[in-house]
Order: sequence, then C-alpha cells, then structure tokens
Amino acid sequence: MKNPQVLIVNLGSQYTDLIGRSLRELGVRSAILPPTKAAEWLLANKPKGIILSGSDASVNDADAPQPPETVFSASAPILGICYGMQWLAKRFDGEVRSGTGEGNYGETIITFGQGQEDGGLWYGVWNSGGNQHKVHASHGDIVSRIPVGFCTIAWPYSHKDLGVMGMADLKSRLWGVQFHPEVDDTVAGKQMLANFVFKIAECEKDWNPRHLAEEIRGETVEAIGGRDVTIGVSGGVDSTTLLALIAPMLREKLHPIIIDAGNLREGEQQEILENVRSAGVCGPRVIHEPEKFVEAVSRTIDAEEKRKAFSQNYWDIFNSETQRFKGSVVVQGSLAPDFIESGKTGGATIVSHHNMGPGIHPFRRLFKYEVRELGKELGLPDSVCKRQPFPGPGLFVRIVGQSVTFGRLEIVRWADARVRDILTKAGEYQKMSQLVVGLLCINIGGVKGDARSYKPIIGVRGIVTSDFMTGRGYQIAPEVRREITRTLTKHPDIGRVGYYEEDKPPGRTEFE
Ligand code: XMP
Repeated sequence: MKNPQVLIVNLGSQYTDLIGRSLRELGVRSAILPPTKAAEWLLANKPKGIILSGSDASVNDADAPQPPETVFSASAPILGICYGMQWLAKRFDGEVRSGTGEGNYGETIITFGQGQEDGGLWYGVWNSGGNQHKVHASHGDIVSRIPVGFCTIAWPYSHKDLGVMGMADLKSRLWGVQFHPEVDDTVAGKQMLANFVFKIAECEKDWNPRHLAEEIRGETVEAIGGRDVTIGVSGGVDSTTLLALIAPMLREKLHPIIIDAGNLREGEQQEILENVRSAGVCGPRVIHEPEKFVEAVSRTIDAEEKRKAFSQNYWDIFNSETQRFKGSVVVQGSLAPDFIESGKTGGATIVSHHNMGPGIHPFRRLFKYEVRELGKELGLPDSVCKRQPFPGPGLFVRIVGQSVTFGRLEIVRWADARVRDILTKAGEYQKMSQLVVGLLCINIGGVKGDARSYKPIIGVRGIVTSDFMTGRGYQIAPEVRREITRTLTKHPDIGRVGYYEEDKPPGRTEFE
C-alpha cells in the first residue's frame, strides 16, 4: 500500500482526526502525527501536502506547540487550520492576539476574496445567497495582522473582531483558514479541503472503504499475534462490527463477553445477543454484576467520578476474564472521538471514556459513520449498522444531580422505553442520530391525583450529527412532544418533561 500523501501535523485540536476522516472521504490517505513524529516522518517521506491542525493552546504561550521547521523544506503546499494559520502568521512576523468577538465560537458567516479561481482554496465554493458562507469557528486568538507577502482571502461578515478569516502566500503555497473546514457545520468545508488536496497539492485518489476492512484486519491480526482475545460486546455498531471483522480469523480463540452492570435499557440484553449472532458469533458469556456496579457509581453524583467508578469495575472484569486464558489480550471497539475527548491525542479532556484501557483498539482512527460503512461492507444488518449509539456507562450517566439507585434506574429505563416507542411510531427516532432520555433530579411542583406532587424531570434530547463532534439539536414535532409528555407524566415519580434542543457545542449529546 502507498505511503500517505498528506501529512497532518497534530497540534492538539479536538478536530484533528476529523481532518483525516474528511480526506479519507475524499479518497486520500493521510498520516496524522504530533510535531516530533512529524519531523521524523518527514525525514523519510515526501508528502504532496501538509496540514497544520488547530490546537487548544495559544501561539503566544511560551510552550506553544511548534510544527517542525522541515515542513517548509518539504516542497509541499501547507494549509494551516485555526491555530495552524495563527502559527503561520506568527512564524512570518504577522500579529496574533486574543480575540473578544462573540463569533469566535460556533456558527459564523464569512465572505471570500481571492482564492475563487481554479487552483484556489475557494474554487467552486459559492451559494446563491451571494458571497456569504457559513463556517464553524472555535478559537480564542485571532490573526490581527497578516505577514508581509500574504494576502487576505476571507473576512468576517456576521461578527466583528474576528480578525482575518483566511490568508495566503500564493508564491510560497502557504494557506491559512481561521475556521474549521473539517467539521460538518462548515457548509462548504469538504469542497475547500478537496481544493487543497486535489487542486493545490495535486494528490491522487488512493483510498476506498474496502481498503479499510483489509488494512484494519491485517493490522489487528498482527497485533494479536496468535493470542486468545477477550472482547466486550455492547450490541452497538462498533463492537459488533469489530466482532464480525475478527471472528472469522480467531474462531475458538475469541471470547466475547456481555457485561450486565444494571445500566441497560429495556430489552437490551436480548438485542445484544441477536446482534452478536448477526456477526456470526454464538454463546457470549453474560456477566451479571448490577449490585457491584450500582454500589460503586452511587457513591458520587459527579459525572466524571461516576465514569471512573464504572471504568474501574469494567476493567476489573476484563482483568479477571483475561486470566482465564493465559497471555490473552483485550480488543476494544473504541473510536477516534473516544480518544480525542479523553485527551489521549493531545488536547483537553472533555469526557473520560471507559474503553480507554490497555489492549488493542483497531478502530482508534475511525469515526462512527466509517464503522457503519465497514459494518455494511461486512454484511451486518441495518439494525446494527444504523443503530444509535448508547454510552458505555449506559443509564448511569442518564441520572443527573442525585446518586444512582435501582429505583431511579427503573424510572429512567421506563421513560426511555416509552419515549423511544412513541418517537419510533411517529418516524422521528429514525431521523435522529441519537436520542437521550435522562432523569434530571430537580424536584418540581405539580398536581397528581388531587394532591401536590414534587417529583423530578425527565429530559428528552435528540441530536443530528455524523461525527458526534458537532451536531444540531433535534426539534421533535409539537404533537409528538405532547404525547410524550402526557405518557410520561402518568408515572407517579415523574414531575414534568423537558425538551433540550441546543446544538453541540455549546451543548453535548448527553446530559452529563
Ligand atoms: P457527548 O455527550 O460528549 O457524546 O456529546 C458524544 C457521544 O459519546 C457518547 N458518550 C459516551 N460513550 N462512554 C461511552 O462509551 C461515555 O462515558 C460516554 N459519554 C458520552 C454519547 O452517548 C454520544 O454518542
């Protein structure tokens, strides 16, 4: 297989893996490396293009991450994204300062100047509304003065004090964008990246989804090296696809387990068993430990602490399972966002994921939608490939503000099943990327059976997204909301129902 054509220098942005994913979608392979590894890689490789990612740091920090200087001697065009552009500006004596504009985070509108010609970054990017383009911004600093030799190619339109939104030194083939073309919310982002890789860097297509299965299978078999494998299956698309990918080569050396921690939804265990069967695997071991898990997570109401307690117990089980087969290894279906949000790829910790333990993580560079494609490629049914995600700690992180108890688990499990049922019948569940039903433990006054009631709230939230890094809050139709509210408030322990429609960011998919 050919070497990657594009080097992505990872300077610590949450979105760096999305750049790699976007290039794969365009059919181009890339290597994502931190600065020191990028320097080593450049000694032996000649990329056709280089992308400098964003970062959670400021270029004005004393310890700001620095791409290697050899990016300039690689004879390849460079695209700096967000921090990457600020780093280019500072490197060539422009000015970067802290921004104050409210458009620094989230949706913002910009206008383009130069760069619309064939071979430019904005080629073919236009909309019928005129020269105004919706992009996703997420930055603290701004470029307040571009370096000599550069020209401004994009300006802010909807918000002031955003600084320069795009710059280029066409002679030296250096390009910078202050926003993130790699996230869905930048409407023409994919076209911009296509312009960079195909028109500016002159890459060729060298990637399709079938390569993904072959490459991952090869790498995984090599990493397993003939050992026995313990794999946790949740019934979700990630672990089921992983099972389907590796089961044919491992046969009796594969030991799938299902952990019933008391955190599953109504009917879920049965569904997991069916999904495991659809991956061609029979007889996973079911480990029932609700008391142990509930006791551990009930000691705190802090979401991160809860996740850690869950994780600890989860790994205790894996440790004892691997001891059953000498020298065996754990294989996990953890995805790129799990690594990114857990701060394992260099950025800030947004949420710790339970599946970040030791072992082999064949899907560590993939995003959900890529795993769905892989599942399809492997012949898994739609019930698996299109299944909505559900967090590993399950209903434990759907009880907010009070400790987890079996009683509260029952309430949220009941509510979740009713909401899913109503939304499915109304055809709304299928339109969401994920539904979240949570028990929000703030007691609220009401009237039930001629008496005062003082009970918690059920929160209902839907989100539409392809990568779960950004997303749009889903608006449930009013008549369907009314039916949900009427149904749920019949429960003696549910006070009211709240609907949460904010985007991510600033919201998240889950309530905690
Ligand atoms: P957020 O809330 O961060 O969620 O927007 C993004 C996706 O990750 C799932 N999620 C988790 N999955 N363990 C998991 O396995 C966790 O602790 C966890 N927290 C969030 C969430 O359901 C959504 O699909």
